[in-house]
Amino acid sequence: MTAHFLEVQGLKKSYPGKGKHPEAVIFEHANFQIEKGEFVCVIGHSGCGKSTILNILAGLDEASDGVVIMDGKEVSGPSLERGVVFQNYSLLPWRTALQNITFAVQARWPQWSKDQVVEHSMKYLDLVGLKGAEHRKPSELSGGMRQRVSIARAFATQPQMLLMDEPFGALDALTRGVIQEELIKIWSESKQTVFMITHDVDEAILLSDRILLMSNGPKAQIAESVEVSIPRPRKRTEVIHHDDYYKIRNHLVDFLVNRSKEYARDQEEIDPNRQPTTVSFAR
Ligand SMILES: Nc1ncnc2c1ncn2[C@@H]1O[C@H](COP(=O)(O)OP(=O)(O)OP(=O)(O)O)[C@@H](O)[C@H]1O
Ligand SMILES: [Mg+2]
Repeated sequence: MTAHFLEVQGLKKSYPGKGKHPEAVIFEHANFQIEKGEFVCVIGHSGCGKSTILNILAGLDEASDGVVIMDGKEVSGPSLERGVVFQNYSLLPWRTALQNITFAVQARWPQWSKDQVVEHSMKYLDLVGLKGAEHRKPSELSGGMRQRVSIARAFATQPQMLLMDEPFGALDALTRGVIQEELIKIWSESKQTVFMITHDVDEAILLSDRILLMSNGPKAQIAESVEVSIPRPRKRTEVIHHDDYYKIRNHLVDFLVNRSKEYARDQEEIDPNRQPTTVSFAR
């Protein structure tokens, strides 16, 4: 039995070889845990296997080895308990912003009255600043607004865990900043457990309790777990003045620029039970 909310043990993903080509091991011996209510970001170079891990946690992809246990149960397929937000906001084009949310909320709580569903959905649309735009269809919304609808929808269904794969990747820096703060707001209201992939170190520091650093593939590892020791509530304009901000930021950038490659070379002696190294700058 495990005391952790999410437990990932010995996770491996590989693709079988063909002819002269050997088996492609994307990652193996991946071990890590996430606690209930934690906001965890994952950073790593393109192709190291971040989306693959997220999809396995979502139950949308199958691991080659290892297990994922959420709330004491093994993950073995998609579930309403795990909400997913992708980069390209998968909204239903023929439904309005509100209907995209009520649709999901009604599926989650079939016993709810129509009024209850609408009221609940509107609350989440309001949290992402979309009150007034609820009757517009996705084609009548900007990219940032569409992504807000996706986020509102994911949070509104209150899954036990939210999985977000570069949700702001397609947005300009200004819109991104605004939505990051909305995400903080909606997350601090709901205290849901979040696992999010990002390429943006500042975004990771602003949002997370902890940042997992993935080394380069093939045979990528969850190398480090960096604690973000900056108190909440956090604001974009204020976090950068905290004593630990640049210590954390420099550590992350150094990992990405220098150390993420070294792990790949040390692979052969890797301990299958290896946990990511904990890094903390808190005194
Ligand atoms: N069918 C396949 N056969 C072989 N390799 C594959 C296959 N599908 C994916 N891969 C490889 O798996 C690796 C991990 O892919 P994944 O999408 O998880 O990376 P990522 O870390 O999310 O990258 P990015 O940051 O670019 O989104 C990549 O190197 C990719 O080439
Ligand atoms: Mg990816």
